[in-house]
Order: sequence, then structure tokens, then C-alpha cells
Amino acid sequence: MSDKQTLLEQIRADIIANDTCPDLAKTATNLVMGDGNVDADIVFIGEAPGKNEDEQGLPFIGAAGKFLDSMLEGAGITRSEVYITNIVKYRPPNNRDPLPEEKQTFWPYLVRQLDVIAPKIVVTLGRHSMEYFLPGQKISLIHGQPKRIRFGQSRIVVVPLYHPAAALYNGSMRTVLNEDFIKLPKIIKILEKEEEKK
Ligand code: URA
Repeated sequence: MSDKQTLLEQIRADIIANDTCPDLAKTATNLVMGDGNVDADIVFIGEAPGKNEDEQGLPFIGAAGKFLDSMLEGAGITRSEVYITNIVKYRPPNNRDPLPEEKQTFWPYLVRQLDVIAPKIVVTLGRHSMEYFLPGQKISLIHGQPKRIRFGQSRIVVVPLYHPAAALYNGSMRTVLNEDFIKLPKIIKILEKEEEKK
């Protein structure tokens, strides 16, 4: 196991050992930590697992996940090169929105995951994860725009996108989301060029 995988396993173990969100843990089948490449340039952060994700213990594998896959493909990105997780790691009953206190409780674990993976960009999917990185912002005004923010001791680049589930049955939002996905490799290239100049 790579060092990163060991550290990510430790985060999972801590969530369980700390009895994190016991009410959600009681009704959930699996703790859905995240999946993908631990050396990824891009980490996607959704909201919380749904029914399929809860059953299989993997993020974004239902309808929204299939749509996410197709947008990745459209942007020339394979799912195996990115890492995907959620802000809340147990399924809320009946797919209700995660509560503010649930997001707050899971936030330190998400921070640790990002510290371990250290991606070039963090892509938030929907307002639930966006509001933690970019508080007070409106997704309709800033979607698809890279934002450099202070994050703990370092600075990171966050790209807020609409949530695939919101765009699934909304034609115009679908188009916007597809267009925003295509920007991601370009944003990474620009960041790499900036790094080279340093
Ligand atoms: N929606 C999310 O936000 N996350 C998932 O894992 C699945 C659907």
C-alpha cells in the first residue's frame, strides 16, 4: 500500500473510531470515503452518497455518477486519473440534503483527505461543498471559474461546478456543466505553466 493509501485508510479508521455522525452511521450501509487515484491532479467533491453509493461503498456510481463519467470523457479525462469523494460520507436517509452540522462534522476529515492527495485543483460539485471553500458565493455567478483560496497553511485552487444531479434533467444546465468540464484540463495546464515560471 502506498503511503497515501495508508494515510487515507487512517482517516477512515478515525471516522469510525470517533463515532462520527452516529445517526447517519446507524441508517447507512457503508461509509463512502472516496475512490480513485491518490496522486490525482483533480479531486471532485460531491454532497453525500445516494442509494447506490451507500449499497456499494463507492461515490458517484448511480445516475449522477454515469453523467459525471460522460462529462469527464467529454473533457478527455478518465475516471481512473481523478479522485472523487463527498463532503458527507454516510448517506442521509431518503436522500435528504445533508444538515449543516453533518457537513461541519465531516469537514476536518475532508481537509485531511485533501492534505494527503494534494491535488492541483479541487472541483466542488454543487453548493453543499462549494459553500465550505467559497463561503457567501453564488454558484450561478462563479461556476467554472478557478478561485485561489487560503486553505490551512497552504493555498489551493477551487473550481466550483454545478452538481451533476441538478443538471441531469435540465438541458441548459447540462450544456453549461459540459462546457465547464472542458475547461478543467485547460485550467491545469495554466497552473502547470505558472509553476514552471516560479
Ligand atoms: N451525489 C453526490 O453528491 N455524491 C454521490 O456520491 C452520489 C450522488
